[in-house]
Amino acid sequence: MAVLSSISSLVSYYRLFFTFMAFFFSGLIFLSSRSKRPNLPPGPRGWPLVGNLFQFVRSGKPFFEYIEDLRAKYGPIFTVKMGTRTLIVVSDGKLAHEALIERGALFANRPPETPTRAIFSCNKSTVNAAVYGPMWRSLRRNMVQNMLNTSKIKVFRNVREAAMDKLIDRLKTEAESNNGVVHVLKNARFAFFCILLTMCFGSEMSEEATEKMDQIMKSVLISLEPKIDDYLPILYPFFSKKRKRVLEVRREQVNYMVPLIEKRREVLQNPGSDKKAISFSYLDTLFDLEIEGRKQSLTNEELVTLCSEFLNGGTDTTATAVEWGIAQLIANPDVQSKLYEEIKSTVGNRKVDEKDIENMVYLQAVLKELLRKHPPTYFVLTHATLEPTKLAGYDIPTNANVEFFSHAIGEDPKLWTNPEKFDPDRFISGKEDADITGVTGVKMIPFGVGRRICPGLGLATVHLQLMFARMVQEFEWTAYPKDSKLDFTWNLEFTVVMKNHLRAMIRPRV
Ligand code: HEM
Repeated sequence: MAVLSSISSLVSYYRLFFTFMAFFFSGLIFLSSRSKRPNLPPGPRGWPLVGNLFQFVRSGKPFFEYIEDLRAKYGPIFTVKMGTRTLIVVSDGKLAHEALIERGALFANRPPETPTRAIFSCNKSTVNAAVYGPMWRSLRRNMVQNMLNTSKIKVFRNVREAAMDKLIDRLKTEAESNNGVVHVLKNARFAFFCILLTMCFGSEMSEEATEKMDQIMKSVLISLEPKIDDYLPILYPFFSKKRKRVLEVRREQVNYMVPLIEKRREVLQNPGSDKKAISFSYLDTLFDLEIEGRKQSLTNEELVTLCSEFLNGGTDTTATAVEWGIAQLIANPDVQSKLYEEIKSTVGNRKVDEKDIENMVYLQAVLKELLRKHPPTYFVLTHATLEPTKLAGYDIPTNANVEFFSHAIGEDPKLWTNPEKFDPDRFISGKEDADITGVTGVKMIPFGVGRRICPGLGLATVHLQLMFARMVQEFEWTAYPKDSKLDFTWNLEFTVVMKNHLRAMIRPRV
């Protein structure tokens, strides 16, 4: 009995000892893993593996509203974990300036691509997706210096004028057969797409070919929409059907675009063989482009990818701005009248020309206010750091997606008076201003700022100014149904568009 009791006390002793050691070592492991864990910006506690993904889904809110709620709770820099991805959201102008301007090179990288994105970007062979390095430098320098600088933009003046004339005709025809009612986004989008197609391939395309290309581009964008396995790669094997569809879309894109690329090659080799061809195009700049650190020129697949980037980058973004802009002109008839007066006093009875625009101060103010209040993308493209660093005292690891919240910065009450109000006069009175390139300070970032700032900023500005000037010169815009209040609710499609796409009444001026 005594032996038994001493054995049992020995067993109890060992149990106690092992339990103690187990606690001791797990404590050590926990503490050492904590000490290695980065000090990320604050954010909601997440679950292992899924992070805050379920909390977001359970909130039943669109992503940006969920992010807005977190911003209200955690402040200008916070962390949210979407499955395996760590998002660090920055919504403060000063922090954006520090990261993107003062320490621009460090924050100029992009995160790794999802498998689907890698297919469409040809493994990061685009300006927007390339790693901050030689490939990006070569592609970006080419796009900026050989295609989108001021003098090259001027080369396509006639292309823009023809597209704007066509737009006005389309609007007139649609209104005539529809009691004065027109779709805004669809028509603006078509006009920008036609301009970019001609700039890209160096030839005006038939309406049929344009529509086919548009349909392919839309399929590409739909394929690129984020999916659950982008956040939880563990689920990747369950989405083989979707992957098959993605490969089909890519094949269709390549099969349709390669002949257009070959056609342009032929035109360059046999000048005069195509009477419709124009003297210069984006493709021409890419054919013999030398990529730093690489011997071979761009492959046809890479050319398809770069042309698609050019078309996608400048179509939906710009068209979205037109839809919000016309809605604001309808909701603020005094702004519309003032704009019309400026156009009339600048050009009299002749058709407005893009050269007139530099004299239209109010038009420029309307556009700036529009991009402050309605940046077409609420986040700029995702950034990543080249090496681990700190921002606002927190750790920013290289594998984090750093997101700059354009919408919140543009409506920050610390930076703007009555930020909710659409008020172009704020830029006229001299009381408020903003450097859209962010160099002297960040108050609005519709085009991003710093090394990765949108290279299409100049072109987009010309497109928007010209389209607004022509649309307002030709027509008076009012609400449909008559006297109804416009619904400014937004919806995330490829860009942040009006939830109920704008249909408006137009009446020719004269
Ligand atoms: C209103 C129209 C436009 C808006 C609001 C817009 C907005 C943006 C934004 C927010 C970025 C990301 C900046 C960053 O990562 O920090 C960007 C990048 C880019 N945009 Fe635009 N964009 C517009 C028009 C265009 C046009 C017309 C083109 C070309 C035809 C274009 C081509 C690009 C490219 C290639 C990039 C990637 C730049 C890089 O990563 O280095 N965009 N744009």
